[in-house]
Amino acid sequence: MDITFLLNGESVHVSDIDPTQSTLDWLRETQSLTGTKEGCNEGDCGACTVMLADESGARAVNACILFMGQLDGKSLTTVEGVVQGGKLHPVQQAMIDEHGSQCGFCTPGIVMSLATSHLTGDRNHDDVLAGNLCRCTGYAPIIRAAEKAWQEPIPEGFGVPNICLPDPGHDATRPASIEELAKAYAAQPDATLIAGATDVGLWATKQLRELDPVIFLGGVKDLQNIHVDKDEITIGAGVSIERTRTLLLDHHPHFAEMLRRFASTQVRNVATLGGNIANGSPIGDGPPPLIALGAMLTLRKGKTQRSIPLEDFFVAYGKQDRAAGEFVESVTLPRQAEGLRVYKLSKRFDQDISAVLGAFNLTVENDTITAARIAFGGMAATPKRAKAVEDALIGKPFTRATILAALPAFAQDFTPMSDMRASAEYRLKTAQNMLVRYFEEAKGNAVDVLEVTS
Ligand SMILES: Cc1cc2nc3c(=O)[nH]c(=O)nc-3n(C[C@H](O)[C@H](O)[C@H](O)COP(=O)(O)OP(=O)(O)OC[C@H]3O[C@@H](n4cnc5c(N)ncnc54)[C@H](O)[C@@H]3O)c2cc1C
Ligand code: FES
Ligand code: FES
Repeated sequence: MDITFLLNGESVHVSDIDPTQSTLDWLRETQSLTGTKEGCNEGDCGACTVMLADESGARAVNACILFMGQLDGKSLTTVEGVVQGGKLHPVQQAMIDEHGSQCGFCTPGIVMSLATSHLTGDRNHDDVLAGNLCRCTGYAPIIRAAEKAWQEPIPEGFGVPNICLPDPGHDATRPASIEELAKAYAAQPDATLIAGATDVGLWATKQLRELDPVIFLGGVKDLQNIHVDKDEITIGAGVSIERTRTLLLDHHPHFAEMLRRFASTQVRNVATLGGNIANGSPIGDGPPPLIALGAMLTLRKGKTQRSIPLEDFFVAYGKQDRAAGEFVESVTLPRQAEGLRVYKLSKRFDQDISAVLGAFNLTVENDTITAARIAFGGMAATPKRAKAVEDALIGKPFTRATILAALPAFAQDFTPMSDMRASAEYRLKTAQNMLVRYFEEAKGNAVDVLEVTS
């Protein structure tokens, strides 16, 4: 593949490159830009953080799971590119002044995360740094540095304004419209679709898989569409988790708050909602709340579109209702659902995969539960509805007694497994506790300590 992009403000054309080579390897091995570090090589530590910009703005991303093919037509800034006119970026200077670095291995990634948030105006330093692991400095001096830098203006010439982006390439591997994608995928149904590559990237870096042929979805404008009407929201499969989170703040704040704990800023900036659904993972964070909302999935193959309830998409572990050459186009959900609550349980608060994720969408009228949709991740081989629990609730008064009486139904719905994240017993117990929590929150009671007897 031939690609053209801006590297630290200079136009770069690379011919005949493996589109699935990691940006991190390319930077370090061919450009000697070794400021960008390799730590985990799987998107977890942030040592490789770089800034990627296009017309939609600038984002911090992990270079280790960013394929070269994803750079086409964009602007890439590495830690070598933040110095302007020989002067350190305010974030770099503040990191020195506040002693924000000891061994220094994590420092370039932290500088890139903070320089990007300084540019974009995101002052929520804890969220910005949730994907940057530092083991020796401790975060207090780093946060102090972030705050100090905030008092300084954005250095002139830094970032996205006024850059002229090169035109991205355009062929069967890089379709620009949904029609082109449908045609290219129908012609090559064995191709690997690459959206944000936050799953697929690890197939390359950890499993050393050859990914050929590939189709990049990043250039397909139609997959980026968001449509909000009176009753429904339709989100294109290529919309990032971060954009989804921002969108949902107004409509489904509990869902949005859970997405704040989805991976890290770097991962959320590129990971897509479509990828989160299509990968079929039993522990993906997007599907349970979407299923609880009764979301519909639109799939497309060639010229044929079909819509199915999202819950029917997940057939069995590793098996989804998706034909060869068919792709996820969008997901449609209700615009509002007052009763929706989403609880994510993971070993760490930030940047961790769920052990159990519960989504509850109950309708209560005149103190009676008139409708219930409850879905879980981490409790079965697929994201799954708790139908026996729902049945135990619908038509009953919305009281503690009803909730407690429904708890045994969890064992009818789920036979969870034990793994490194949680034991089967713990999963079942915490899933039950989430329902109790839902009730206590709805009634405005304290939820910190609960004595649950069933
Ligand atoms: C450090 C780290 C932390 C993570 N934390 C979380 C977390 O907290 N919660 C969570 O749920 N996930 C997490 N993930 C997993 C991952 O980020 C998500 O599953 C993400 O949404 C995948 O989206 P993507 O665009 O990167 O998909 P990709 O990696 O590009 O693709 C994933 C799969 O979906 C297919 N695909 C993509 N788009 C389409 C489409 N439109 N139609 C059909 N098939 C398609 C691909 O071919 C591939 O099989 C994490 C990953 C990393 C690396
Ligand atoms: S090397 Fe750890 S996130 Fe990239
Ligand atoms: S300074 Fe050593 S890991 Fe951050």
